[in-house]
Amino acid sequence: MRRAQGPSRRVERPRVREHQVRILRPQDIPACAAIIASESLWQRYGTSGRSARELIRGAFRRHDCLYVARANGQVVGFIWFLLRGAFAHSGYIRLIAVAASARGQGVGTALMEVAEKRIFQSGPNVFLLVSTFNRPAQQFYRRRGYRPVGRVPDYVASGLTELIYRKTEGSLRR
Ligand SMILES: CC(C)(COP(=O)(O)OP(=O)(O)OC[C@H]1O[C@@H](n2cnc3c(N)ncnc32)[C@H](O)[C@@H]1OP(=O)(O)O)[C@@H](O)C(=O)NCCC(=O)NCCS
Repeated sequence: MRRAQGPSRRVERPRVREHQVRILRPQDIPACAAIIASESLWQRYGTSGRSARELIRGAFRRHDCLYVARANGQVVGFIWFLLRGAFAHSGYIRLIAVAASARGQGVGTALMEVAEKRIFQSGPNVFLLVSTFNRPAQQFYRRRGYRPVGRVPDYVASGLTELIYRKTEGSLRR
């Protein structure tokens, strides 16, 4: 559901504005996996804490780009991306997740900024997939300049459709 607007809602949330973003370390992986496992989005895709841990460990071993946001000594979000993960040319944001208790306070934006900075240094496009039913995330991406450029039915899971979102600074051959 859409986050309610207004100052009263903001003060109710735990304050994580002092978060820091840094490269993921192996000891961060269980906390990242726990964030995924607790999110209904990935439960719908059948992702468990164990499978999430394996997924992130694999990404870490492959030297994919992984960053965490930390606040008050805890991991409150993370992002996983590849500089050439889309069509072997372009940046691909594979996954972003912020702990439910830390949302709406700029953590997701800070993680996206780190990913986009690195990706745009190496090419003019960023792609990502978002589920058709995940309207809050679609809005989050749209606000950050992403636009839907296609749809892929039955890709991650049968019966579910992924939207391809792109943020661009231009074509590959300018
Ligand atoms: C999508 C997601 C990563 C966004 O993370 P987030 O930390 O909530 O994002 P931000 O706080 O930076 O921005 C969210 C909104 O809060 C607002 N916001 C930013 N700072 C704020 C603050 N200090 N107080 C209140 N609101 C604030 C932003 O304006 C933004 O609004 P918008 O989406 O309408 O643009 C997070 O909601 C999430 O993990 N969702 C579940 C998993 C998911 O859907 N992942 C994407 C899969 S494709």
